Amino acid sequence: MVFVLGFLAVGASASEAAARERLLMDFGWKFYLGNDWGIGHSLTKAGTGMGPASVAYSDASWRKINLPHDWAIELPFDRKADGSHGFRAVGAAFPQNSVAWYRRTFDLPQADADRRIWLEFDGVFRDSTVFVNGWYVGRHESGYSSFRYDITDVANYGGKNIVAVRVDATQAEGWFYEGAGIYRHVWLVKAAPLAIAPDGVFVSSKFKDNIPAGSAEIDLQTELVNVHADAAEAVVTWEIFSPEGKSLATAHQSVHVGGSASVKAEQKTKVETPELWSPETPKLYKLVTTVKKGSDTVDRLETVFGIRTVGFDVEKGFMLNGKPYVIKGTCNHQDHAGVGAALPDRLQAFRIAKLKEMGCNAYRTSHNPPTPELLEACDRLGMLVMDENRLLGSDAANIDRLERLIRRDRNHASVVIWSIANEEFGTGGTPAGKRVAETMQAAIRKLDTTRPLTYAAPVANEFPGINEVIEVRGWNYHIGQGADDYHAAHPKQPNVGTEQGSTVSTRGIYTNDPVRGYVSAYDDNAPDWANLAHDWWSFYHARPWLSGGFVWTGFDYRGEPTPYDWPCINSHFGIFDTCGFPKDNFWYYRSWWQDEPVLHLLPHWNWAGREGQEIDVRALSNCDEVELFLNGQSLGRQPMKRDSELKWKVKYTPGVLSAKGFKAGQVVAEEKVETTGAPAAVQLTPDRATIDANGEDISILTVAVADAQGRVVPVAGNLVTFALEGPGRIIGVGNGDPSCHEPDTYVPVAASRSVALGGWRFKKVPDANAPGLPEVAVDCADADWSAVDVNRESGPLAPTEKAVFRTRFTPSAADLASAVVELWFGKIDGAGSVYVNGQKVGSTGDSRSASIYDVKALLHPGENVIAVTISNYSPVAGLNKGVALRLQDAPVSGVWSRSVFNGLAQIIVQSSKEPGILKLTAQSEGLKPVTIPIQTRSGGVRPALP
Ligand code: GAL
Repeated sequence: MVFVLGFLAVGASASEAAARERLLMDFGWKFYLGNDWGIGHSLTKAGTGMGPASVAYSDASWRKINLPHDWAIELPFDRKADGSHGFRAVGAAFPQNSVAWYRRTFDLPQADADRRIWLEFDGVFRDSTVFVNGWYVGRHESGYSSFRYDITDVANYGGKNIVAVRVDATQAEGWFYEGAGIYRHVWLVKAAPLAIAPDGVFVSSKFKDNIPAGSAEIDLQTELVNVHADAAEAVVTWEIFSPEGKSLATAHQSVHVGGSASVKAEQKTKVETPELWSPETPKLYKLVTTVKKGSDTVDRLETVFGIRTVGFDVEKGFMLNGKPYVIKGTCNHQDHAGVGAALPDRLQAFRIAKLKEMGCNAYRTSHNPPTPELLEACDRLGMLVMDENRLLGSDAANIDRLERLIRRDRNHASVVIWSIANEEFGTGGTPAGKRVAETMQAAIRKLDTTRPLTYAAPVANEFPGINEVIEVRGWNYHIGQGADDYHAAHPKQPNVGTEQGSTVSTRGIYTNDPVRGYVSAYDDNAPDWANLAHDWWSFYHARPWLSGGFVWTGFDYRGEPTPYDWPCINSHFGIFDTCGFPKDNFWYYRSWWQDEPVLHLLPHWNWAGREGQEIDVRALSNCDEVELFLNGQSLGRQPMKRDSELKWKVKYTPGVLSAKGFKAGQVVAEEKVETTGAPAAVQLTPDRATIDANGEDISILTVAVADAQGRVVPVAGNLVTFALEGPGRIIGVGNGDPSCHEPDTYVPVAASRSVALGGWRFKKVPDANAPGLPEVAVDCADADWSAVDVNRESGPLAPTEKAVFRTRFTPSAADLASAVVELWFGKIDGAGSVYVNGQKVGSTGDSRSASIYDVKALLHPGENVIAVTISNYSPVAGLNKGVALRLQDAPVSGVWSRSVFNGLAQIIVQSSKEPGILKLTAQSEGLKPVTIPIQTRSGGVRPALP
C-alpha cells in the first residue's frame, strides 16, 4: 500500500492547526538525465539517501524545469528504439536516457509542525523513488496511478526541505508512447491531525428505479482520520450548493473518532428538482464538507459532483438519466503534439472541446487511469468517461491501485463506467481470468455501486472467462454475425462497444504512400482486425443493444505506426492528427453524431499535373441529397444513405469544386474547395488571444501557409521559424505529420567546462570532527603538510585514521562570472565534511558516487581555500578520483522551427506569472512573415508552493 496513514501519536496542541491547504508544486524543479547514482537509496542507514537523494548535493548545474514534464519528447528519434513507443531513444536499449532525477526545495514554517504533510503525485512515468531530506519515503512503480506519501515525520519545520525523485522509464507498461518523467502535477497538502482522509469524501445521488423524477436522494460519506493518540469528538457538516451557487441542503453527523483511528461518517439528504448532468447540460453541484472539533474547524473540502443516473438495458443499451443514450465515443491516450505526455490542463480542455465539435459525447481513458484534470474538463464541458484500469490482476498491488483509482475518481459526474482492463489476450478467456475479474469487480463495488463495470474484450461470440462474469460485455472490434449470435445466446447481459474503428488515415493525403508512411484520408483503409468508420458505425447504429461505442482513436498518438514502420513515428488511427487538426473522417462522424447540417468535400483541389485525370471526389454529409459542381457546372445530385458517404469521379480542372446540401428540397449547406495559388504568407491564429499570467495557461496557435489570397495551401510543406518576445515561452511545436522527425521541443543548452584542482596536502589529526578544528580555518599554515595525489583510486589513510586535506587556488574572473560554479569530488572515501574558505558546505559518507557542492556564493577573487576532513572506517580512505571546479554558462535556447504539413502546423505558447504582451513572430523563406500579440493578464493563479 502506497499511502501510509502514519498512525503515529502526536500530542494534541491547545489550538488546532489551520484547516487544509493544497498547494500546486509544479514550479521550480531541477532536472538531470542520467543514471549516475544507482538507486540513490541507502539500505544500510536511514535518512542517508545518496547522490541527489542527499541534502548536501548540489543541483546548481541541473536544468530548471516546471512540471508537467516529459523528457522522452526531448530525445532524438532512433530506428533502433521501440516503434510501438514512437522510436524515441528511451527504454532498455538506451540506459543513459532512461533514468532521470528531479529535485525541488521548499520551505515549511515552524507552525506546520502540528499538521500532517502529504506529498501527492498525480502520475510519474514510471518506477519512481521519492526522497525527502535524504529519507526514502516511497517507491511507486505504476506510471499511471496517482500516489501520495505522508512526509510529516521527515519534514523540516521552520526551514528548507528537499524532495528528490528518481524516475526509471526503462520498462514499458503499454504498447504506445508513454512519455517519461513527472508528466502530471505534484501537490503538497497540509492538513490537521484530525482531518478528512485522502480521497475520503464520496457523494452520490439516487432516484427510485434509477429514473430521475422528483427529488434526488444524496448519499454523503466522509472518512475521518485521527493521528492523535487521544480519541476525539467531531462534527461533520455537509452543505450542497446548486450549479448557480445557492445553498440547497445541509446535513450533520457527530462522530467519535478513536485515537490513532479512522471512521466513516454517513448521512443522506435530498435535492429537490435537481438539474441533471449530461454531456448536453453539464450542470455541476458543489459539496462543502466541514469537520469541527469543539469550536475549531479542522478541515474543509470542496467536492464537485453531478446528479444523474446511469445504467444499461439489455435491449435499449446505455441509459443516461433514465433514457437510452447512444455512446458516440473515442478512445485516447494522453499524448499531444509538441508536449508528449505532459499536457498543461488547458490542453485537456482544448482536446475535449475538439471532440465535442464532432458530436462526440464519450471518452475512454485507454488504457490507464487518466490525469484528474482530464476528468475535470469532462465534468465541466460535458463528456461521458469510461475510466480504465491499466492491468487485469487481483494481486495486492493491483487491487490497491484499482481501489485508489476508484476512490480518486468516484465523485466525477463524467465517469459513468469503470473498465477493469483491455484485451488480455492470454488470460481473458481462462477460468483464472474469470476469477480475477470477479475479485476486481468485488473490490470496485465495495467503493462504488453507482456505476456499471466492463472489460474491453477482443473476442466475438466467446463466453468463457471474463465475459461470463463481467457486468457489461465490452466489444473490441468483431462487428458481424458473432456479435448478433452472442447477444442471442446471452440476452440478459448488456453490451458496449469499448473499442471500434482503428481506421487509418493521414490528414490531407489521398494516396497510400508506404515509402513516406502515409495512408489516404478517404475512409478506405483499416488493418485486418479493424473496420472503416462507416462499416462499424452503421453496424452499431442499427443495433441499439450495443449502446454505441468508442472509436480507436479520437487523436493520433505517438507510437503504433500501423500499417507502417520507420520512418513513421506515430499512429494513423486518429480522427484528428496529433495537433487536433481534423482529418476528413471528422466530418463523417460529425454528419452522423449530431444534428446540425454538415457538408464536407474531399480531397483538396490542388492537383497540378493531373489535369484531365479522374479524381475520386467524396461528400460527407447528413443532408438528404448533395449536388456537386465543378467551376459552376453541376456534376449531378445524389441521395445520401444514412451513415454513408457519396462518391463522384471528377476529371481534374483547376478552379472551384463546390456542393450544395439539401434537406426536404431546401439548400441547408454549401461547401467549396478551391485550387490555391503558391505559398505567399505565413498565418498565425491563436485559439485564445488572451491567457492567464499564471505560468500554466497556454495559447494554442495554428500556423498556416497561405497563398496571396489568404487561402491555406493544402500541399504546402514550408519550414517556419518562430521567435517569442515577452513574458512567456514556447513549450512545443508539431504538425501532425506521422513521419516527421523534426524536434517537438528545443531544450536550452548550457556550455560547461571543468578546471582540475590540484596542489592538495594532508595532515593526520586525532579527531576530524573536533569543534573549531584549526586545520579547516582559512589561515592555517599547511605548507609543511604531506603532498597527496587526489587522482588515484584509493588511499592514503589506514583504518581508523583521521585527516584534513587542503588546497588553495585562485579562480579566474571568467570562472567566478560563470552562472554555475560547483565543487566536484570524484570520490570522498570515508566520512567527510567539506569546507570552503572556512565555511562548511556539506558532509558525505557516500564513496560510491561523486559529491557535488554549489560554491558560487562562497568563492571570491584571489586565493580560496578548500578543506576536507575525513574519518576512515574502512581499509583505506582519502580524497580520490579527482577534484574539480565545474563551471557552466547560462543556458541558451535554439531557434524554434517546424515545417507545416499539408499547410498546417501548431505552436504552443505558455504564460509566465508576469502579465504583459507576448509577441510571436513566424517566418518562412520567401513568404510574408507575421507577428501577433497574445495578452497575458493577471489571474488564474492557484495556491502554489513558492
Ligand atoms: C487494439 C488495442 C489498442 C490499439 C489498437 C490498434 O487492439 O486495444 O490499444 O493497439 O488495437 O488498432
